[in-house]
Amino acid sequence: MSELSPEARLSELRAMCPQIAIDGPSGSGKSTVARALAGLLHGDYVDTGATYRAMTWWMLQCGVDVDQPDDVAARVNEPIIELGVDPQSPAVWVDARDVSTDVRTAAVSAAVSKVAAVPAVRVRMVDLQRAYAENARNHGRAVVMEGRDIAEVVLPGADAKVWLTADLQARAARRAAQDEQLLGAQAAVADVAQGLQQRDTADSSRAATPVTIAADAVVVDATHLSVEQTVHAVLDAAAKQAGVADA
Ligand code: DC
Repeated sequence: MSELSPEARLSELRAMCPQIAIDGPSGSGKSTVARALAGLLHGDYVDTGATYRAMTWWMLQCGVDVDQPDDVAARVNEPIIELGVDPQSPAVWVDARDVSTDVRTAAVSAAVSKVAAVPAVRVRMVDLQRAYAENARNHGRAVVMEGRDIAEVVLPGADAKVWLTADLQARAARRAAQDEQLLGAQAAVADVAQGLQQRDTADSSRAATPVTIAADAVVVDATHLSVEQTVHAVLDAAAKQAGVADA
């Protein structure tokens, strides 16, 4: 493989309209990195966590008992969930209402693992997520999709697969700062860490698609990296996996 300048490498990757899967635990910086990467590639950004959060928000609004998987499964086809895939302004709507902020509240965060563990929910969400990837491909655009099971389940044929992680304290600090910016509320980092840990445990021990690292994913640990360094490391990993020479 010949050596390429960073710009040439980026435009070669862009021209491939790749599908890039970024999985990892909450607070690992996936959203920031996936959005930045989608922007660099002029592609679409798909936040799959937002689809599970939107479903959860709707269930809570409707008074569905999220501790009863059968009750959740019975209502799963009712809400219309849509994503805004522009990495500059990602958004999520339920029945045409913009719930981008509502889905980040503590109530939704506390319930989402339960809803995401219901097989019927996962089937519907995976279909929806794949439709966004298909749409990007049909329009000749790259797609950067972030979540937990993208590499293994949603897009097993993705051109690049990255597992982005960071240690719990770093993730909690990042998530607390994000939530404060979005919701205007200050949460103690220790409380956020506890919530993240509970969610990680629930997500990786559920029966339906437990969260695991895909065997063919490249692991990037962002604990000691700045945002710029992380974006660079993920871009580097993605370009190599997609077969684009590095500079
Ligand atoms: O990334 P996040 O915190 O917004 O994810 C919210 C929840 O959805 C979390 O409990 C994990 C779950 N999730 C999932 O099961 N599969 C995905 N592809 C994305 C998120």
